Amino acid sequence: MTPSPTSPGATAPDATAPGTRLTIRRPDDWHVHLRDGAMLRAVVGHTARQFARAIVMPNLRPPITTAAAAAAYRQRILAALQGSEAAGFTPLMTAYLTESLDPAELERGQAEGILTAAKFYPAGATTNSDAGVRDLAHIGPVLETMERIGLPLLIHGEVTDPAVDIFDREAVFIERQLIPLLARHPGLKVVFEHITTADAAAFVAGAGPNLAATITPHHLHINRNALFAGGLRPDFYCLPVAKRERHRLALRAAATSGNPKFFLGTDTAPHAREAKESACGCAGIYNAPYAIESYATVFEQEGALDRLEAFASDFGPRFYGLPPNAGSLSLERQDTEAEAAEAVPVALELANGTDHPTRLVPFHAGEVLPWRLV
Ligand code: NCD
Ligand code: ZN
Repeated sequence: MTPSPTSPGATAPDATAPGTRLTIRRPDDWHVHLRDGAMLRAVVGHTARQFARAIVMPNLRPPITTAAAAAAYRQRILAALQGSEAAGFTPLMTAYLTESLDPAELERGQAEGILTAAKFYPAGATTNSDAGVRDLAHIGPVLETMERIGLPLLIHGEVTDPAVDIFDREAVFIERQLIPLLARHPGLKVVFEHITTADAAAFVAGAGPNLAATITPHHLHINRNALFAGGLRPDFYCLPVAKRERHRLALRAAATSGNPKFFLGTDTAPHAREAKESACGCAGIYNAPYAIESYATVFEQEGALDRLEAFASDFGPRFYGLPPNAGSLSLERQDTEAEAAEAVPVALELANGTDHPTRLVPFHAGEVLPWRLV
């Protein structure tokens, strides 16, 4: 039986039989890097064909720190979309918090309908984070304003202290920064982005209703062994870096639990193949092309396909106080053993409006995923 679009989420008992369709309310992606210029033109379609809305990260060079810059960036995103995609996709813009940001800028950006959230990057933690904040305690007035006006704070939750082991940086962030932050600003809505540890999953589950978390597809699929399987594998390098297997299992449990504090955010972070495969390779996994298929695979493996819709399409808008989408999206189960089964390309050459296509390696390169977007 194929669930009809009018009964989203209803999956039949034989939901894994080849040819079965799974129809869910159209999802949103609550954490994407769309970049700018040629890269933006190359990648934006992959997000727009699956997701109705996306929270767009502001870590451009220079970063998006004003409402006017966010509005101009939104226009460039919409201009980069082709035909029908443009009609069905809404970029939700964010501001990049710096230690010199005027709180009035956030208030104005929200009032004008430009800003949906603001992003905290600890200075030096990840790609284009040099202009970020050294300590959350340095931006008290900004956070007070956000708390008062209900503008969510999106957190890259890693300490940057070089004395802390890179695999411990998220767990230490909870103790040193997040717990004090929530105590100082109990009314602030906070999204702990792309969580990677059992510690973070447990902390979010046990915290009050103002704290939620996004979970990426890659952290549900890989553990840190993937980075070193047979040699150094730059395509699996991202920040926060993948952790041990027990953390991956905790994230899978959280994502498929039906707890509304956990929702979809891919953290798709494209870097050209040359920039990944270099002596100092960039952090970021390009998972946008097969994102919903990747999540569906996890939910199927966990026997939780009936919870995919809530994770992908309901809990995010509920947390952000936005209406759920009206449209739907369908996936079809393919026979992974069949010769006709479609594999994820090992590399992509994407048109971008210049003479040189953008070369990217997608997450799941070369694998056959059981679900395919219809
Ligand atoms: C992101 C990027 O490339 O912008 N990289 C990543 O590994 N996730 C930045 C980020 O979200 O940390
Ligand atoms: Zn990110």
